[in-house]
Amino acid sequence: MCKLRKKNIDITKLRKTLGYYPTGVSIVTAPGVNGQPIGMTINSLISISLEPPLIGWCVDRRAASFADFSQCQNFSISILSEDQSELARLFATRGADKFAGLCAGRFDAGETQAGVLIPGACAWIRCSVYRFVPLGDHLMLVGEITHFQHADEVPLVFSKGIFRNLAGENKVAA
Ligand SMILES: Cc1cc2nc3c(=O)[nH]c(=O)nc-3n(C[C@H](O)[C@H](O)[C@H](O)COP(=O)(O)O)c2cc1C
Repeated sequence: MCKLRKKNIDITKLRKTLGYYPTGVSIVTAPGVNGQPIGMTINSLISISLEPPLIGWCVDRRAASFADFSQCQNFSISILSEDQSELARLFATRGADKFAGLCAGRFDAGETQAGVLIPGACAWIRCSVYRFVPLGDHLMLVGEITHFQHADEVPLVFSKGIFRNLAGENKVAA
């Protein structure tokens, strides 16, 4: 067992340990402060409450899009399906042109305002921000669900640092 002493944390080992908890993989999007779409890959999505319907996720303060997410009023979640690991990787890449391949990078005003939805995903959830909760080096965004929909797709999984399908097989895009 690795005992935690303040200021003496083996971050690599902690990350590896937490990686044993398998999660789904989502892309969260929102309108940026200048109206441009922003988005990133996350696995911190949690369901919180049914009445009212609340979900949450955490954004790293060091993310390029942190300033935009920390001021957004709405965000949208697309829960990725098993063949979308390439998109997951793209949206986890700082500085990448993340939206160019989606609808040729053109979105109508409504879509831009509420956050872009990713085609081919398993499920989509739109939220209005219910609360911002500062938590260490992350900020939790709690959202009240305004719209939701699911499709008949199999979800992508992230565990032990690898994208997988539900059977645990590697789904890393070639
Ligand atoms: C599977 C996976 C899950 C991730 N989960 C989160 C998360 O929950 N919160 C977060 O802030 N970053 C998370 N990241 C990292 C961000 O996707 C990455 O830092 C991204 O570059 C942030 O975008 P930006 O720097 O362009 O704003 C995750 C990355 C991967 C590959």
